[in-house]
Amino acid sequence: MDRKHILDLVADMSLEEKAMQMTQLSPDLLYQLTPTNLTGPLRVWKFSDEALWKTGSVLGPLGAAFLKKLQKDYLAKSRQQIPLLFMTDVIHGYVTIMPIPLAQGCTFDPDLTEEAAAAVAREAAASGLHVTFSPMADLVRDPRWGRVMESSGEDPYLNGQIAAATIRGYQGKDPREKGRIASCVKHFAAYGQPEGGREYNTVDMSRGVLRDFYLPAYREAIEAGAAMVMSSFNTVERVPATCSRFLLRRVLREEWGFEGVVISDYSAVEELMNHSVACDDMEAGEKCVHAGLDIEMMSGVYAGTLQQLLDQGRITREEINECVTRILELKNRMGLFENPFKDADEEEEERLLYCPEHLELARRFARESMVLLKNQGVLPVSRGRIGLAGPFSDTGNILGGWHCEGKPDRTQTLLQALKAQWGEGLETAMTEHFIHGEADVPDRVEEAVERLRDCDICIAAVGEPEWDTGEATSRTNLRLTPNQEKLIHALHGAGKKVVAVLFSGRPLDIAPVLQDCDAVLQAWFPGSAGAAAAVDLLLGKYNPSGHLSMSFPRNTGQIPVYYNHYETGRPETEKENHYTSRYLDCANSPLFPFGYGLSYTTFTCGEMKVSEDLGKVSVRVRNTGERSGETVVQMYIRDVSASVVRPVMELKAFRRISLEPGEEAQVEFSVTKEMLSFYNEEEKWVWEPGAFDLMVGLDSEHVERERIFIPAGTGEQEAL
Ligand code: BGC
Repeated sequence: MDRKHILDLVADMSLEEKAMQMTQLSPDLLYQLTPTNLTGPLRVWKFSDEALWKTGSVLGPLGAAFLKKLQKDYLAKSRQQIPLLFMTDVIHGYVTIMPIPLAQGCTFDPDLTEEAAAAVAREAAASGLHVTFSPMADLVRDPRWGRVMESSGEDPYLNGQIAAATIRGYQGKDPREKGRIASCVKHFAAYGQPEGGREYNTVDMSRGVLRDFYLPAYREAIEAGAAMVMSSFNTVERVPATCSRFLLRRVLREEWGFEGVVISDYSAVEELMNHSVACDDMEAGEKCVHAGLDIEMMSGVYAGTLQQLLDQGRITREEINECVTRILELKNRMGLFENPFKDADEEEEERLLYCPEHLELARRFARESMVLLKNQGVLPVSRGRIGLAGPFSDTGNILGGWHCEGKPDRTQTLLQALKAQWGEGLETAMTEHFIHGEADVPDRVEEAVERLRDCDICIAAVGEPEWDTGEATSRTNLRLTPNQEKLIHALHGAGKKVVAVLFSGRPLDIAPVLQDCDAVLQAWFPGSAGAAAAVDLLLGKYNPSGHLSMSFPRNTGQIPVYYNHYETGRPETEKENHYTSRYLDCANSPLFPFGYGLSYTTFTCGEMKVSEDLGKVSVRVRNTGERSGETVVQMYIRDVSASVVRPVMELKAFRRISLEPGEEAQVEFSVTKEMLSFYNEEEKWVWEPGAFDLMVGLDSEHVERERIFIPAGTGEQEAL
């Protein structure tokens, strides 16, 4: 359909029809069923039956047969034959579940991320879905916030790379193609920084911080072609993002040229009244229309107010038409006018969902995403008798929050995977999983120590319940539960070699048990094939290669702790100086830094070389151990002196490389003017020549560093 047809359709619409295109509801409401799968406070809205069936898109519908029926029923009632859009949260898998996004970040592997997102899209598309509310490009620094699991971590560049790869995977070259879905990047903006890590809490930061850290990944997502953007629940500079003209008009549309659809988060439009920026529905609707918010998700403000607002001259017809046109253009971009069912196909569903190819991909992805945090010569396990204990020993609840149609009951457990790959030399104890509502697992520690007495190595499969991560799961205590800590201490106390396999959606506070663990494998919530992947690593069939996308704190009081912070005037340098920026009872550095991850082999970085024209930095990386393995070479910069403070280091490039024992590789990175530029006080993207530190290393704490000087005037040239 061409643009003229779309404009004709818009011109022919009644105001009610337009308002309903701009409203997203759950299909349960259309069929007047009990709402399921919904995330917000449930309220009763007064839509007439007739109006309900004019909604332009629906949230949370699933399954080809149901979606075909819904589209058919809808079109049978539709005057203009404008098809419905189906959207839902396919965050890290539809039925085959990939590792959680925070773990995906640890792969530092955009290609594999893209491949996995393409598989996820194939499943979702076959089930009839058109749009997924993913990726979440929110930068995160506070593991008290349960939604860190949905982010790819604390670095703007890595987040941008992972978000863009995810979008390419979902949308391909054109989301209308078979097996593709459209991507809605969220939550715009800065949702990842709620005060105190408390869900939905106020966000407040300077423009500089917003531009340095929080905005870049969304921008990368827009550049990768994301079809939609979801505004966030939080405020930014005292204005809720839902009605922020600064964010939705100036940054998104004017600066970044975004032409797609913006949707609110769940019932966020009516929540403007709670935020106290609107005294009633009318004011809430007016503000959102002015901000260019195209779709209101799950509340009835637009439907109830647009006519009156127009009559009173508080909004214009043009503003409404702009929104509706963008929505119809998205439907057109998805090819729905020609084929309203898109890829919905029960046979394809049967063939694709949870198919062996997707499970194999999920296993590969999970393997790359797990991070070996500690290993004192115990891993990989090659012989002897293995003991397995802890709440994650024998559960399929390892998919992680937002696992869509994932199947915990069909998910292989660690015990099953160990039996399949290791065989019989295995003893188990204290394997009860968490129960919803119970604070801890039962204390069977004594019995466990007794039962595992003859084991050479004890795997403690510990962590946090998956339902304690995701939306509305903020916590102030990030330690393992008392009985899990007790189990680790007791096994260690009994002289066992303890290998902790940690299942979590966030960096936990593991310092209290670290001493008593001989090895720690951070498995995250690894998805449908996560148990097999963990066993691949534990037994050395695959060499760990994940690197942290988020720093681990030394304790909860140290949060937020992240690598790319600004420096103070009194950096923590000399211990004896009392008046430096530090804690009395804890170091400033994290327990494990961003970019960190061990392997069963060792890698060294040789001396770093900067090319004469300053445009290239290179380093020789050598596998100095006895196994082949992969590592992530990371390039950071620091602007040593600028008109505003700059982070102590910023990741600007990375490369995942694979080396055989004894093999060396020359890894070269370009240094571009773009990498050295930033937003100045006037919010201008500027380039200020001078001194810069270039750094290369295998994590953010251990780097080779060289200072370069770029004379004034160099900025005019293309290369440095
Ligand atoms: C979440 C969004 C999600 C939406 C729809 C909200 O509560 O914040 O991330 O996309 O619900 O399920």
